[in-house]
Amino acid sequence: MPTILKCENIFKTYHTEEKIIEVLRGVTLELEESQTTVVVGASGAGKSTFLHILSGLDEPDKGKVFYMNEDLLKKSDEEISAFRNQNIGFVFQFHYLLPEFTAEENVALPMLVQNISFSKAIERARVLLKEVNLEERASHKPAELSGGEQQRVAIARALANNPKILFADEPTGNLDSDTSKLIENLLVKLREKYGLTLLIVTHNDELKKIGGRVITMKDGKIIESN
Ligand SMILES: Nc1ncnc2c1ncn2[C@@H]1O[C@H](COP(=O)(O)OP(=O)(O)O)[C@@H](O)[C@H]1O
Ligand SMILES: [Mg+2]
Repeated sequence: MPTILKCENIFKTYHTEEKIIEVLRGVTLELEESQTTVVVGASGAGKSTFLHILSGLDEPDKGKVFYMNEDLLKKSDEEISAFRNQNIGFVFQFHYLLPEFTAEENVALPMLVQNISFSKAIERARVLLKEVNLEERASHKPAELSGGEQQRVAIARALANNPKILFADEPTGNLDSDTSKLIENLLVKLREKYGLTLLIVTHNDELKKIGGRVITMKDGKIIESN
């Protein structure tokens, strides 16, 4: 499969009042289209920072990031957010659903941002909620859903604009083990169905079993990769 996303020699340092933290120290990685990659490593290894840089949420101090052959770091802030909205879906440990909106409205929101009509957006939101087996919960608000159901709504929302790449940062971090399994299986199913490129970062070694490539990060470097 062709390379969809790659980064070369990424460095990132945070300067706080007390100290300088070298979070990423020369990270290079290529993601193949439709592949699953699981990045594991202890808390503080730099995984979330790495995901933010690969997805254009943050910029490195040094290094390059290419989506297909486009240099992401040459894009303006406006171009980068348009790029993210069109090509990338995000799932985080905490779902960040908007409490005052229903499940289907939450899933519809990224489409409304793309100027899709409300009725079309809601129609697609219902299709996506069906994909995550939540069609019966479409008009529930987040507080009326379990943790696993909330995360499934967040996954449906991540797919709203038909992304090429799905980034998941500790997607099961807040869930019990049975619910985690369900979310893992769902991510695998959706990756296959939509040909998504899936990048998961986690401190949970269980997720290595999801299949695909496993990368281990330690102290801001990739120390193992298959
Ligand atoms: N915005 C920030 N400012 C200062 N330090 C940060 C910031 N974000 C992360 N860090 C530090 O960088 C290191 C790596 O963080 P992170 O990428 O979140 O690691 P991981 O996701 O592997 O737990 C940690 O020591 C963290 O405290
Ligand atoms: Mg993290």
